[in-house]
Amino acid sequence: MSNQQQVEKVIVNIDGIDVPVPKGTNIIEAAALVNTEIPHYCYHPKLTVPGNCRMCLIEMGMAMKDRATGQPILESDGTPKIGWIPRPAIACATQAAPGMYIKTKSELVKNCQKGVMEFLLINHPLDCPICDQAGECRLQEFSIEYGRGYSRFVENKIVKPKRTLIGPRVMLDDERCILCSRCIRFCQEVVHDDVLGFIDRGSYSTLTTYPGKQLDNNYSLNTVDICPVGALTSTDFRFKMRVWFLKKTNSICTESSVGVNTEVWSREGIIYRITPRRNDDVNDTWMSDSGRELYKLIESENRLRKARSHGVAISLDEAHIRCAEILPTGKTVYIGSSHMSVEEQFLFKDLIVQHPGEVYWVSHVDEGDNLLISSDRTPNLRGALITGLIKDVPVDNLDNLAKLIENGEVQNIIVYHEDLTRYGISESQLKKLNVIYLGTHVNPTSEVARIAIPTLMVFEKSGTFVNQQFRLQKFVQAVPGPIGIMPDINTLNRIISLLKKENDTFSSIKLIWRQMQSSIPQLRDLSFETIPDGGILLNAEDYGAFDFPEGKTLHFEAKTKSQV
Ligand code: SF4
Ligand code: SF4
Ligand code: FES
Repeated sequence: MSNQQQVEKVIVNIDGIDVPVPKGTNIIEAAALVNTEIPHYCYHPKLTVPGNCRMCLIEMGMAMKDRATGQPILESDGTPKIGWIPRPAIACATQAAPGMYIKTKSELVKNCQKGVMEFLLINHPLDCPICDQAGECRLQEFSIEYGRGYSRFVENKIVKPKRTLIGPRVMLDDERCILCSRCIRFCQEVVHDDVLGFIDRGSYSTLTTYPGKQLDNNYSLNTVDICPVGALTSTDFRFKMRVWFLKKTNSICTESSVGVNTEVWSREGIIYRITPRRNDDVNDTWMSDSGRELYKLIESENRLRKARSHGVAISLDEAHIRCAEILPTGKTVYIGSSHMSVEEQFLFKDLIVQHPGEVYWVSHVDEGDNLLISSDRTPNLRGALITGLIKDVPVDNLDNLAKLIENGEVQNIIVYHEDLTRYGISESQLKKLNVIYLGTHVNPTSEVARIAIPTLMVFEKSGTFVNQQFRLQKFVQAVPGPIGIMPDINTLNRIISLLKKENDTFSSIKLIWRQMQSSIPQLRDLSFETIPDGGILLNAEDYGAFDFPEGKTLHFEAKTKSQV
């Protein structure tokens, strides 16, 4: 922790335990430090604190002092006498102070929690069996843990709109809304797209969009994530799968160099949704809607599923052997990709060592959104710097290479992922060469390639990326790849072995990391297994002169970072 982050600590007593917490910490967070849950709805660590749900009520007191002497007043057993405030307080808006005493489980607190739950459920439809939130609903969970177990309300429930489409990706059920305002605050405070608000009063209060507006910004699905109940659901995910059947796997979003931390939810090899994973140094608790869509490319029609030669299917074995035969036949140019993992880039470099040739790298720059999509639309440009594959800024076009091809100065191209026809090399120029393409999807380059070898998507393999902060982050295989596709590291390793005329050696992430530890000083003390879930910052100073697509900023400050 840096000096800047060292903040004054205060001691607050929670249910009899003295807890040292940073000054300014609210009581919900302070209690969490000693694994004490204070139930809450409206409070969210990354949003402002409105204190409107009253679910987080606690008892609060201060150690009493003699007014004349300033000395602590003690009980007969020598413990400090506490002056308890004779009414409950909300934990979310109470900051820890020295000498503060908190009760989270007293009779008063339990009665308050029962009362609040009863109020929240008065008009609630309780249609859990047909509610998509079931299984991850705070109302369900807290009503069991903190509720009364029965309702004394015998009148008719208020009827509100159901199934209102408030944006292209978000469905609202107003009867289930507990008016916590998280969704409203998210739109106002994080995306600065003020589209949601409450209308009417009391029990008739209803969430809606402003006239003529829709919840259609590219972060709209975060409202679904933070809605503590089933009021907001994703039109894409709803009714597709019960959440308790799904397996969660840590991953990294490949949409841009921000490297948003994600969770991939899958069952029996099929991905159903992607949600953000909290990383306060990278993406807080948010991600873009567009990033959540990327898994759909797994099943896209133009997925490259079989090795091909000029568009005709061949076996993987044949493809590897032909690659190893082609490469030594002439001058070879290598075009890598910032979509490759660090491990793949490392092996790609080893491949170049076997048959040296010039390396080209193309940039994928588009407009950033000043939130979680940076202008570099690739996840691992920094990885190529760390592995020593590139030393210069990626190019916008390959005109120079096109000239070399025209002049007959290049015979072979091995290209990873990129469609070269988008960067100034025509199909007719490619047809003059031996093109070896490795990639996940069919494109004009793969179609004219002498050899096209299918590779796996990020969800189908494990590895690491280095994001724009130079944070090394790992992603883990969530689902198996299509039958017959070999992991990229095995493909590269196989071709390298064939070029070396060695017996085929087995490769794994673990083994590659062992090699990287000894040849990349930055990674010397690291291994894939020990990279923490939140990633680890590498030293960016060596690359200070590199002209990054995002500008010169080496360390990205998450724009969404809130005052917790
Ligand atoms: S929001 Fe929760 S409590 Fe309400 S119907 Fe859905 S699952 Fe049940
Ligand atoms: S829709 Fe959900 S997040 Fe929005 S106010 Fe209602 S309960 Fe809260
Ligand atoms: S969490 Fe809602 S009032 Fe504290």
